[in-house]
Amino acid sequence: MNLLFGDNGAGKSSLLEAVSIVSRGGGSVPHLREVLGPDGDRWRVTATSREIGRVSARIQQVVFSEGKKTQTIDDRPVSNRELALALPLVSLTPLNQTVVNEGASARLRWLDWCMFHVEHDFMEAWQNYRRTLKQRNAALRMGVDRSSMEGWSKLLVTHGDALAALRKKWFPDFSRQFTDELSAFLPDSEWVADFYPGWEGGKSLREALKQSLAGDLRMGSTRYGPHRADWNARRNGETVKRKISRGEEKLCAIALLLAVAKIVRDVVGHLPVLLLDDIEAEFASNTRKKVVDRLDSLGAQCIMTAHERLLELEGKTGVRMFHVEHGCVGSL
Ligand SMILES: Nc1ncnc2c1ncn2[C@@H]1O[C@H](COP(=O)(O)OP(=O)(O)O)[C@@H](O)[C@H]1O
Ligand SMILES: [Mg+2]
Repeated sequence: MNLLFGDNGAGKSSLLEAVSIVSRGGGSVPHLREVLGPDGDRWRVTATSREIGRVSARIQQVVFSEGKKTQTIDDRPVSNRELALALPLVSLTPLNQTVVNEGASARLRWLDWCMFHVEHDFMEAWQNYRRTLKQRNAALRMGVDRSSMEGWSKLLVTHGDALAALRKKWFPDFSRQFTDELSAFLPDSEWVADFYPGWEGGKSLREALKQSLAGDLRMGSTRYGPHRADWNARRNGETVKRKISRGEEKLCAIALLLAVAKIVRDVVGHLPVLLLDDIEAEFASNTRKKVVDRLDSLGAQCIMTAHERLLELEGKTGVRMFHVEHGCVGSL
């Protein structure tokens, strides 16, 4: 358990961002340019990563220079996928901690991220589907002839069914782990989660696309399919969207983080690193204690940030605190 604490603007979130970059590559070059601006045109993030129980360590590095990004492990160029598999990481920041009240993509990202780590074919299935969806949408807008349209629909069904089957396979485990964790935080309610595959239940994707073709042509886009998938939580049988407090919503996000970490552990064999930015925000002290205790008992490496030292961490073993000030990190 590592806590970075310090004033606003000290550099805590930036440090978490750096850790996240060595696992995720930080996104595309245009995205990095936008986030980092002209001052960020040359930088390097280097990390030593080591699997628990192993002596040998790896050097993971992401370098950005002259508009080009290079990512390496022990000096060997690697893909985003290799980088992420070498250092599995789940992170909770103010940007992804609203889950229940957001649009479907905020929730789906958690499920898809989990599958990326546990299902070897997921990335390929997802990319094939996105590519075909783009092509089908372009064909809808161009108004191509009926047989070409059928060809795109058929290909979309092939890739869509593959992607939907993977989500369907993992959702029960995902929702069980999520509701178990959430029930431990909020035991007075009964929690369940439901999955929507992106089209009406009971129909095949092929039927759904066939029946919606006329409307799709009018709109110039594909209205049903795994890109429209969603899931959400219900409390005591009722949907919680717009009926949940900010603190409860953040607990949902922490329950997701824990659920994903456990699924990755069970399949891959080791826990991912957990990043939690602004851990104390939105929580009363007894809730903070529950969260910290749960993170501690999971046993994952956690890097957390807060404005002050967290009293809830005092007395636990294996805790390290770092004071962050003007961009410098000091160990206590
Ligand atoms: N993308 C960015 N480009 C330039 N400066 C940034 C960027 N993000 C944050 N900063 C600056 O870096 C400093 C540290 O920010 P941050 O790490 O978010 O602080 P903390 O999380 O400790 O409150 C702040 O002065 C902030 O304004
Ligand atoms: Mg911050």
